[in-house]
Amino acid sequence: MGSASDNEEGVMSSHGEAIPMIARRSSGLSGEAHVPGDKSISHRSLILGAMAVGETRVTGLLEGQDVLDTAKAMQAFGAQVEKRGETWHVHGVGVGGFAEPDGVIDCGNSGTGVRLIMGAMATTPISVTFTGDASLNKRPMARVTDPLALFGAQAHGRSGGRLPMTIVGATDPLPVRYATPVPSAQVKSAVLLAGLNAPGETVVIEREATRDHSERMLNGFGASVTTEDTPEGRVITLQGQPELKPQVIVVPRDPSSAAFPVCAAIITEGSDVLVPNIGLNPTRAGLFFTLQEMGADLTFENLREEGGEPVADLRARFSPDLTGIEVPAERAASMIDEYPVLSVVAAFATGKTHMPGVKELRVKESDRIDAMAVGLRANGVAVDEGEDWWTVHGRGHGGVRGGAVTQSHLDHRIAMSFLVMGLATQEPVRVDDGGPIATSFPIFEPLMTGLGADISRES
Ligand code: S3P
Repeated sequence: MGSASDNEEGVMSSHGEAIPMIARRSSGLSGEAHVPGDKSISHRSLILGAMAVGETRVTGLLEGQDVLDTAKAMQAFGAQVEKRGETWHVHGVGVGGFAEPDGVIDCGNSGTGVRLIMGAMATTPISVTFTGDASLNKRPMARVTDPLALFGAQAHGRSGGRLPMTIVGATDPLPVRYATPVPSAQVKSAVLLAGLNAPGETVVIEREATRDHSERMLNGFGASVTTEDTPEGRVITLQGQPELKPQVIVVPRDPSSAAFPVCAAIITEGSDVLVPNIGLNPTRAGLFFTLQEMGADLTFENLREEGGEPVADLRARFSPDLTGIEVPAERAASMIDEYPVLSVVAAFATGKTHMPGVKELRVKESDRIDAMAVGLRANGVAVDEGEDWWTVHGRGHGGVRGGAVTQSHLDHRIAMSFLVMGLATQEPVRVDDGGPIATSFPIFEPLMTGLGADISRES
């Protein structure tokens, strides 16, 4: 695949040597931050493109390691995936057309990649072995293999439902009706993708609405997916065995990546940063409303609609008078990836920020409550935590000491959050390994330094 290798030089591997990084107190971040394409939509573009008949063309794809690993996987299943100029071309093999890969599918650091691909292959009679890096091989897969078993797929993994794991796809798949026990778009999407090659209707019921990119994109590719809000939750119904039609996709910019320059501007004295073209899909945008409730000077400029989704240019300015708030538990799914960087902003607010209903943070690329709590405390910020909640005791602007070396635990968002924090602490903040940042935001360092942030690598 031309592009995966073209990119290897510019993309650090999460498996490579540690890249120690440091962030020092900065001021006056300014300019425009053009963040990369949305990670969730990028994975789905490649997987759905590989399941369509004909050529899907994708621009704005996130070329982070997670997505490149999914691109390689789609090639291993028989799809052609290559980048020509600025466009990724995915020549799909049709629903049920995946070939059995010759080797092991290595999804690197990506839970989204592995769980969605497991769903996509689970109703095709092939046997596939999946693995990942040290972080991914610790994460729970039973949440996906349990519903896939209802279709008739078998999973043989390590104890506790961990990777490496072999999935034997169903020969005569049955349609499934499944109520997700955890609020997870990955689980929902795995079931919907498996349902594509099952006859009849596959139904997923989720108590809390999670990101709805799979539903929107499946409809875009010509499948029929309906969503109904009922007293038992959100009921999503897919008609099985459609022919997916190739699409031309322009991937919007990732609100989860936008979170870092936005939060950096809010806590760094004298800053005024514009982050253009960010999707404000209500299932993704919870952080931005939370920041506004905390008193952040964050505005949505040029609000418009693109491809059926609300989009705006985010303008974030230094906000010296932030206050801690209670973040509603029902908002958690719409900002689940943003809690690490929110906890950093909370450290610079006055008063407590209480974040309930966030058990899922414990099973991300790292245990994100633990990773942030340990690092925040080491930098002089008090944190209380329980199994599914945490509270950050804000120290106000200028009140955070810093000075510690924090561990990223192979987790890109932990690394970026502590580097953002170091821009406004009294003493520099170090991160033991910035390598994982390349999984989702390979241009983080040049983008942030371009705004005036003092972030660098240490030899
Ligand atoms: C994602 C879903 C979320 C999120 C992840 C991307 C997706 O995970 O944390 O970064 O693209 O579906 P869960 O579904 O496990 O909450």
